[in-house]
Amino acid sequence: MKATIATLPGDGIGPEVMVETLRVLSAIGSKYGHDFTTTESLIGGIAIDETGNPLPDETIKTCEEADAILLAAVGGPKWSDPTSDVRPEQGLLKIRQHFGLFANLRPVKTYPALASHVPLRADLIEGVDILFVRELTGGIYFGQRKEMGDSDEAYDTMLYSRPEVERLAHVAFRAAQGRRNKVTSVDKANVLASMRLWRKTVVQVAEDYEDVELEHLLVDACTMHLLTRPSSFDVIMAGNMFGDILSDEASVLAGSLGMLPSASLGAGRFGMYEPVHGSAPDIAGQGKANPIGMLLSLAMLLRYSLELEEEARAIETAIDDVLADGLRTPDIASKGEAVCSTTEFVDAVLAKLA
Ligand code: NAD
Ligand code: IPM
Ligand code: MN
Repeated sequence: MKATIATLPGDGIGPEVMVETLRVLSAIGSKYGHDFTTTESLIGGIAIDETGNPLPDETIKTCEEADAILLAAVGGPKWSDPTSDVRPEQGLLKIRQHFGLFANLRPVKTYPALASHVPLRADLIEGVDILFVRELTGGIYFGQRKEMGDSDEAYDTMLYSRPEVERLAHVAFRAAQGRRNKVTSVDKANVLASMRLWRKTVVQVAEDYEDVELEHLLVDACTMHLLTRPSSFDVIMAGNMFGDILSDEASVLAGSLGMLPSASLGAGRFGMYEPVHGSAPDIAGQGKANPIGMLLSLAMLLRYSLELEEEARAIETAIDDVLADGLRTPDIASKGEAVCSTTEFVDAVLAKLA
């Protein structure tokens, strides 16, 4: 097949994991006979430095012409002054909104090869396989806000409409039907009006899915249940902010934040694929970044936007095999274990694919 992928390396470790992931894309193209074209554009801090805008119009145009977007990470201390009006993260929110990517799928599973590295008992994490369905274009991230300016006040608004919750719930319930038929909906309905609308709407959508069990959890309790009974979860649906926080917490179950991929989807096949982690300024430029989150994001791109299931699985299996062989970037190495660089890990993945 012929496909164009818009690549957005961004900041910090973003370019490091992107360049390695494109080696894998190219290997998949050669092996399976696909003609992949990649077009690189600016987003985030580097876009601010070069154009003054975290999401230049040219980037949007290039992405519109592509079949899917592959994004690494944005942000960093250089652009983190709280009084600044322009921030890298604005580019990320804007691109999600521009393409209507309201459903952010974040799968989390445990790897037997990493069980001893996870700071939870092995019997607790066995068989963990969770799919977070995070709302991505609404809620408190996009509600009316007031910056402090010259005053001593600032606010953000959490607003959800029924259609926004409905469309997300349909994504969650349909996903559950292809998995283990359970949806856990996370809210804070005991305090927040927007979250009472959330719960009521989810209950109504659930009526269309009699084969799916629905559980409600308040977000505070959910953080605890994720650590005490992680294998009891199948699909977890949550609003924009709660889904953001819970998925970082759940990354501990997988072994590292560097392991988690995501797919941001809208109505059609088009999507944006990005690891869950950020630009990791503390390890940038040192060859220490774990490339797995980014590689698995590429696998999700192949699966969802290009419908190349076999190719997606080939990447996932190669990663499983490399982990089973004992290769570890520093974030997933336990005390005394040898570590490899980002490039060495991907070299091993490429060898498995060859
Ligand atoms: P972070 O995810 O960048 O890093 C948190 C911790 O996890 C750090 O110790 C980091 O070294 C580690 N880590 C993250 N990814 C890793 C990887 N691939 N391999 C090994 N270790 C990894 O979060 P932060 O430090 O809170 O944020 C840094 C910047 O990234 C901020 O500007 C933030 O806004 C931005 N951010 C961007 C995205 C995105 O682009 N999607 C996501 C989250 C945070
Ligand atoms: C993520 C990040 C972003 C978010 C930030 C950088 C805007 O944390 O993709 O998880 O909060 O959505
Ligand atoms: Mn996040």
